[in-house]
Amino acid sequence: MKKDSYKVAVVGATGAVGNMMIKVLERRSFPVKDIVLLASGRSSGRTLEFNGREHPVLELKESSFEGVDIGLFSAGGSISAKFAPCAAQAGCVVVDNTAHFRMDPEVPLVVPEVNPEQIANYTVKNIIANPNCSTIQMLVALKPIHDVAKIKRIVVSTYQSVSGTGKDALEEMLLQSREMANKIDWTKEDGLNKLWTGLKPFRKVDTNVYPHRIAFECLPHIDVFMPNNYTKEEMKMVWETGKILDPTIKVTATTVRVPTFFGHSESVNIETEKKLGAQEARELLRKAPGVKVLDDPSRNEYPLTALAAGEDFTLVGRIREDESIDKGLNIWVVSDNILKGAALNAVQIAEILIRKYL
Ligand code: A2P
Repeated sequence: MKKDSYKVAVVGATGAVGNMMIKVLERRSFPVKDIVLLASGRSSGRTLEFNGREHPVLELKESSFEGVDIGLFSAGGSISAKFAPCAAQAGCVVVDNTAHFRMDPEVPLVVPEVNPEQIANYTVKNIIANPNCSTIQMLVALKPIHDVAKIKRIVVSTYQSVSGTGKDALEEMLLQSREMANKIDWTKEDGLNKLWTGLKPFRKVDTNVYPHRIAFECLPHIDVFMPNNYTKEEMKMVWETGKILDPTIKVTATTVRVPTFFGHSESVNIETEKKLGAQEARELLRKAPGVKVLDDPSRNEYPLTALAAGEDFTLVGRIREDESIDKGLNIWVVSDNILKGAALNAVQIAEILIRKYL
């Protein structure tokens, strides 16, 4: 018999994504009968608010999933590797936000606007994977174009915010920025020389999270380097696009960490089999689920992280024909990496699960 409310566990409830998962469940009135908030032993004794009531944060244990219907996991890959199978064994359906199960052929990898039908295959392992944040927003924007014009190749460069690394990284960026802004002397009259000198001591600074200073810098390095000299983040975009959208699409990616707070931006260049004009693409995207088109250069209107933060929609703009090839487009895609890139996507999957399967 179908239930009308569910026992939901959030693993990593005290983290940036876990916290957002709790807020999204609340905001979208997910039918929660009981919520179980799990984190490390360090957080035991803390409480978090859900639906107007304080709930205790419990230490994650193998036995945490008795009677739990759905587990939203976002506490890191090694935690998912160890605890998702325990949860699945106990009858809980896991929606996992880490990379650990994404490329497992027995685990569906789902963006609800792109391949919701894949959710049906959750039964093999009782686990569904949430894709990488950069892949999710790119595919939300490209799916409607692919359906009409068949994408042959994607060249993507990302400009990813620091919140994607977590709370410690946000703190590192803020402290570095504050120190630099306070210590570097600047007057217009002195011109660039003084700035140049002031910047020198900051060329190399001690860091905890990133290998280099992130404040006022771009780091072409997200996740670890692979034997082919791409980073794992770049390869995730390649692998996951194949699994979610179409394995015949060729993808090449450069992923860059930039000193923004929330929201990832992406420059996406595509080559298509059928010609699609910029105006046609704009019309198509205006009707696409989960997409908001912001594309009026005459009013300086285009997607910005400030507009995407806290927004469920993936913002798309700067839609132009690629004049260097016959059938190609350039678009600029921005989305809230913590929301659509993680927490919202996971909750949307859970919504489909309960609507159709649980
Ligand atoms: P805790 O706050 O107790 O350390 P973020 O990515 O924002 O740093 O969040 C990571 C999340 O994963 C936090 O909720 C954190 O809990 C949780 N976490 C980290 N290590 C463990 C662990 N060993 N067991 C359970 N949860 C963990």
